[in-house]
Amino acid sequence: MEKLVIHGGAKLYGEVEISGAKNAAVAILPAALMVSKGKSVIENIPAIDDVHCLERIIESIGGKIEKNGSTYSIDATDELKVVADTEDVRKMRASYYLVGALLGRYKSAKVELPGGCAIGVRPMDQHIKGFEALGAKVTMEHGSITAKADKLIGANIFFDVVSVGSTINVMLAATLAEGQTVLENVAREPHVVDVANFLNTMGADIKGAGTDVIRINGVKELHGCNYSVIPDQIEAGTYMIATAACGGRVTIKNIIPKHMESISAKLEEMGVQVEELDDSLIITSEPSQLKAVNIKTLPYPGFPTDVQQPMSVLMSIAKGRSIINESIWESRFKHMDELKKMGASVLVEGRTAILEGVPKLSGATVRATDLRAGAAMVIAGLIAEGKTEIYDIEHIYRGYPDIEDKFKNLGADIRIEQY
Ligand code: EPU
Repeated sequence: MEKLVIHGGAKLYGEVEISGAKNAAVAILPAALMVSKGKSVIENIPAIDDVHCLERIIESIGGKIEKNGSTYSIDATDELKVVADTEDVRKMRASYYLVGALLGRYKSAKVELPGGCAIGVRPMDQHIKGFEALGAKVTMEHGSITAKADKLIGANIFFDVVSVGSTINVMLAATLAEGQTVLENVAREPHVVDVANFLNTMGADIKGAGTDVIRINGVKELHGCNYSVIPDQIEAGTYMIATAACGGRVTIKNIIPKHMESISAKLEEMGVQVEELDDSLIITSEPSQLKAVNIKTLPYPGFPTDVQQPMSVLMSIAKGRSIINESIWESRFKHMDELKKMGASVLVEGRTAILEGVPKLSGATVRATDLRAGAAMVIAGLIAEGKTEIYDIEHIYRGYPDIEDKFKNLGADIRIEQY
């Protein structure tokens, strides 16, 4: 087993290269299975455990993958199995995209119900509502979701909640449906747009991704293409926040600054300097000057829930009282108990957390309770006085490529140890 050991206190200087977006990659890989002609060559796939897990799942149903660094070539021209039921399928949340992809291509899919981070109830009612509107019969039995249709026919679908997963999943199926589908009240996240762009490059006809209405004209088949996944907004945000918390000056490279606006604006409000270049941001910070702020997590372009946990660490050392309202996931404060062990002053009441800034955190033995909680613990360890040990770090490797090397290159004292 592995743990992360951090000696806090170093300021961060230098450059960090951001990898491809996890939440785009985990949808684009299943989408590549919809291609019946030619190979899809996809660049900038992040080296994270969720992607490795998905690779095994794709191979288990008959997809072929060749890898060259972060470039994946996917060949799904041979007939695929429409049943995905391995242990890996149950492990990761994004397995649900196999339903949309296989239903679109084969009008039939059976997928074991997915796992993922324990951050709240994770219903699939909106996915199901969308598939049913397209003409599929959907059943949930014995821990599996089964969707079947004689044919899929375009429909008008108004989602009850703004959901990344159901927007992408229904878009996948509708791409190969007959006629036009109009999806309303959809998620506008950069990864939704990225998946739509990928599908269009393969011959789909999707318009409006990035707004709250997506129009899809169904096509008969998709063909192979070359594509590059967008940079990871959440990984970038994590390094921006880490720099703000540790102090120093770091260039966050290979990003789309527009995707970072809600985070940049909050950091500026706290007194952090954010300089915007074409495809990078320079963060300069003096932690003793940080001021308290309030955040409410919201769908894009609001403040992302996936950055809330790292941000809470920064708030824990900012002068004054900061308030977080978590509007997306009801159990995304599990890391607060770990943060308290390090000296943070936090009161959690339902979906609200109130943090009274303290001058410093102190090293402790803590756990990564989920993926972004793990990133939060790393930042906490980097700013704490003395030694921090983080256990259960497998969660972190689900979503952060080379995290210890990236921080080491910026001057942090962080290493992996076996135990
Ligand atoms: N929801 C429903 N019904 C549904 C689907 C969702 O009520 O059928 C609700 C959820 O309970 C939640 C809200 O809608 O309150 C938003 O959920 P969404 O569907 O957007 O979440 P998701 O697709 O399951 C993705 C990311 C999460 C990220 C959320 C929100 C992937 C693989 N996961 O999850 O990422 O928090 O969107 O942006 O894309 C992470 O990367 O750490 C992570 C958890």
